Amino acid sequence: MKASFENNASALEKICREVIGVSKDAGNFIQQESKKFTLDKIEYKGARDLVSYVDKESEKMIVKRLKEILPEAGFITEEGTESGNNKPLTWVIDPLDGTTNFLHKLPTYSICIALMLNGEILIGVVYEPNLDECFYAWKGGGAFCNDRKIKVSEISLLENSLIVIGFPYSLLDRTEQYLRIFSQLIGKTHGVRRLGSAAVDLCYVACGRFEAYFEYNLNIWDIAAGILIVQEAGGKVCDFKGGNNYLYGSELLATGSIQDPMLEVIQEYWK
Ligand code: IPD
Ligand code: CA
Ligand code: CA
Repeated sequence: MKASFENNASALEKICREVIGVSKDAGNFIQQESKKFTLDKIEYKGARDLVSYVDKESEKMIVKRLKEILPEAGFITEEGTESGNNKPLTWVIDPLDGTTNFLHKLPTYSICIALMLNGEILIGVVYEPNLDECFYAWKGGGAFCNDRKIKVSEISLLENSLIVIGFPYSLLDRTEQYLRIFSQLIGKTHGVRRLGSAAVDLCYVACGRFEAYFEYNLNIWDIAAGILIVQEAGGKVCDFKGGNNYLYGSELLATGSIQDPMLEVIQEYWK
């Protein structure tokens, strides 16, 4: 790997376009399996944390293809079919984000792939196969959906905003605080939605469908790709204190132009 790799926009774009192909092939596999999937094939990682052979097979396919693209890179993967993340270049993969939706045949889920170099996100690709929408970005190159440049919403008032939220599998002891934020926002905005794929939530902020998204207890594979896509679309990402500890800190707020009013509501209840 050349030292200038991370600053070489055309090299990043080339890799990004190869990753788009990988994510679409994984999406086609998932859609084929969806036609024959039955609920008895659900496996449990936790009481509410579901998985299936589709997640694992999708991950194996993606890993195999990404190894061909950058043999020197390591992996962080949700299903752990591949490891070796102690390398400067690392692929971060959620092979099916929105598993619960997939298992119940609800059409919002995605394939989510990021490339990181020494902790910095260089490439993010999120493919949503139901709408055939591929969101992607490479560092410094802007953000796109199916080759169309995207940008975040310019709406700056909460009362004109549509918000998306996630409910983590494990709410820990913060349920009440979290629900207070939720109920405040219902009263102050056009509405609050819960789609079920953190990566799609982030991409919908990036293209202006939502003004903000927040959730806690997320993992790096849920968010790495989407974070870069939001940032390259002109959006802001922070933790619930407004700081930079969002990739590993498990609190994430992504916004178009309403970061301050969102932080005000969150900080009133999140102690
Ligand atoms: C989940 C989804 C969901 C979010 C959860 C994630 P998975 O990922 O992104 O929207 O609320 O916190 O764990 O398990 O479907 O890959
Ligand atoms: Ca996920
Ligand atoms: Ca997943």
